[in-house]
Amino acid sequence: MIKKCLFPAAGYGTRFLPVTKAMPKEMLPIVSKPLIQYGVEEALSAGMTQMAIVTGRGKRAIEDHFDISYELEQQIKGSDKESRLAEIRSIIQQCTFSYTRQIEMKGLGHAILCGQTLIGNEPFAVILADDLCDNPDGENVLAQMARVYERYRCSVVAIEEVAMSEVSKYGVISGKEIDERIFMVDNMIEKPKESEAPSNLAVIGRYILTPDIFEILRHTPPGKNGEIQITDALLAQCKSGMVLAYKFCGKRYDCGSVSGFVEATNEFYAKYH
Ligand code: G1P
Repeated sequence: MIKKCLFPAAGYGTRFLPVTKAMPKEMLPIVSKPLIQYGVEEALSAGMTQMAIVTGRGKRAIEDHFDISYELEQQIKGSDKESRLAEIRSIIQQCTFSYTRQIEMKGLGHAILCGQTLIGNEPFAVILADDLCDNPDGENVLAQMARVYERYRCSVVAIEEVAMSEVSKYGVISGKEIDERIFMVDNMIEKPKESEAPSNLAVIGRYILTPDIFEILRHTPPGKNGEIQITDALLAQCKSGMVLAYKFCGKRYDCGSVSGFVEATNEFYAKYH
């Protein structure tokens, strides 16, 4: 059973400036809940209780969110507002949170490597909180992936089909479909040009990684945009072993873009509010 979930949360969120100047992008709300809380809830309902968060400068609000706020809680005690904190309180009771800082912004692969100190030597999940996933009629995306991991015991990435004109925004895989929704990866390219993309199967922000990825990341040279890419490390892992890609059931909202964020806000307001 996978117990730990890593949240790389050190990025600047430049697409949302100025709101992200002093506020972490992971704290942007979809209706009244911050993005990272949706991620934590997904991990928790997939059976993971140890949240490992890689933060950076200006991210303290994340730590405060997953903590008790004595003054506030005292103020609203006994009022009807108290129920608004029930969910976050229950999360805090069920999970542990540990933090480390990424001192230099050297890419997603580097952020994940920084998390080694919190993860140790065991398989773990990764959630990129700005990819908000929803599957109201079934298991959440990370729980689906955990089942794939239990069966195959290798790294698993979540994928979805995107328009060819969009492939340059993602890590893109190719592979052979070995079972329903499951592909054995044979190639993986970070943000390829449309003409160089091996398919239109894009990786979204959910991964299950085996801990040998850390050693691979340590030796992965900077790739696309001069950053250490998890995509490159996974390609190395698939060459020396096996990596699977899983076409998940559900819907993913790209909340790292303003349009995806607005779409998620509108749909979540209509569905859950
Ligand atoms: C990251 C990864 C990319 C992946 C994407 C999913 O890119 O590097 O491979 O497809 O997340 O959201 P970013 O969106 O951080 O540029």
